[in-house]
Amino acid sequence: MRFRIALLGFMVCMAGPVSAGEVEVLHWWTSGGESKSVAVLKQLMEDQGHTWKDLSVAGGGGDSAMTVLKSRVFAGNPPVAAQMKAPLIKEWAYEGVLTNLDAIAARGRWDALLPTVIRDAMKYEGHYVAVPVNIHRVNWMWVNPKVFEKAGAKIPTTWAEFEVAAKAIEKAGFIAVAHGGKPWQEATVFESVVLGIGGADFYREAFVALKPEALKSATMARAFDMLKTIKRYTDKDAPGRDWNLATAMIISGRAGMQFMGDWAKGEFLNANQKPGVDFLCFPVPETQGMFIYNVDSFAMFEQTKREIQFAQNDLAKTIMEPEFQEVFSLNKGSIPVRLNMPMDKFDQYAVASLKDFSTSTENRTLVPSMAHDMATSPSTKGAIYDVVTLFYNSEMSSAEACKRLVLEVRASL
Ligand code: GAL
Repeated sequence: MRFRIALLGFMVCMAGPVSAGEVEVLHWWTSGGESKSVAVLKQLMEDQGHTWKDLSVAGGGGDSAMTVLKSRVFAGNPPVAAQMKAPLIKEWAYEGVLTNLDAIAARGRWDALLPTVIRDAMKYEGHYVAVPVNIHRVNWMWVNPKVFEKAGAKIPTTWAEFEVAAKAIEKAGFIAVAHGGKPWQEATVFESVVLGIGGADFYREAFVALKPEALKSATMARAFDMLKTIKRYTDKDAPGRDWNLATAMIISGRAGMQFMGDWAKGEFLNANQKPGVDFLCFPVPETQGMFIYNVDSFAMFEQTKREIQFAQNDLAKTIMEPEFQEVFSLNKGSIPVRLNMPMDKFDQYAVASLKDFSTSTENRTLVPSMAHDMATSPSTKGAIYDVVTLFYNSEMSSAEACKRLVLEVRASL
């Protein structure tokens, strides 16, 4: 791989002061809570005299954004930074289009300030090529307490209890589960179900090691069946709905619960809802003490103009600084990726998330998100999405879905 040699400090001394530059940043943060979060980074860059060129591509989960990125890089015109997930970082680094960030990382002590699993994900062949932003937890269930109260329903901790609660909520005239019928949202729900039913070791065998025995097991079939059961409690308008509109159904009291990562909290907060009062959140049934992690990060693309390199370096540095780490996650619903940050401004759910992140690391119940590109290559993820969505939207049996999963995953490797 070709690395630009990071001699920026040296260049500054040799060539006099470097002017401010423009950073074009590709991301998919377009919902209310997400836009508010990314605006923090824009402001911090502008405060340093740089110009922010926004390249936002709508579409939760980022598949459309990644398509745009591909066309830009292949046209020889990559953005300065692109939101990206771990396995893809290594794929772009392999293509030789990412910048070496080692000098900034050394100055900022990133090695000491990042959890090991995340630090390693930001590196290619031992060199930093991306900067982590935050940690999201995927296996959350968002609840409207008033809907539960009116339905006389109890918060479910198991899938059996889920069905009891969902029936009660429907009987009381509400939609039990707010869902957006899109492949990435189905995969998001599915991975939490797999974790709950199979446990962390099974999850790793299926979605990290991609073992055929796990993919076609009776446990996987049970997870598929549970996904279909959940579907029964969604509404007929779910197909095609955006995730934040599903969250809006919880906010407005039309629906009782949503299974979604904690970027959903950004929507509740953006609507001035109070955590623990207007909305509640719990681990997805049967996943207590387990943690599906999803780390947002920016990969930095090689640039030739000196002032852009300078601005790019400032962007990387700013993302890891405590000020950004705190404000961004407060808006986004995540937790800071930088270790030992003060948590006094965060709510009880973020504090619980941080605690669960460290205990699940110790207990080996911390697993990477398949649905959010942390576990497999994009092509394998695409293969899993295809099977899950086909199953979700057809009469296919769970046994058939398991068979297809093995075949599609094998073909994607
Ligand atoms: C995830 C991303 C989150 C959030 C979500 C919905 O992949 O990690 O930050 O943006 O998509 O768009």
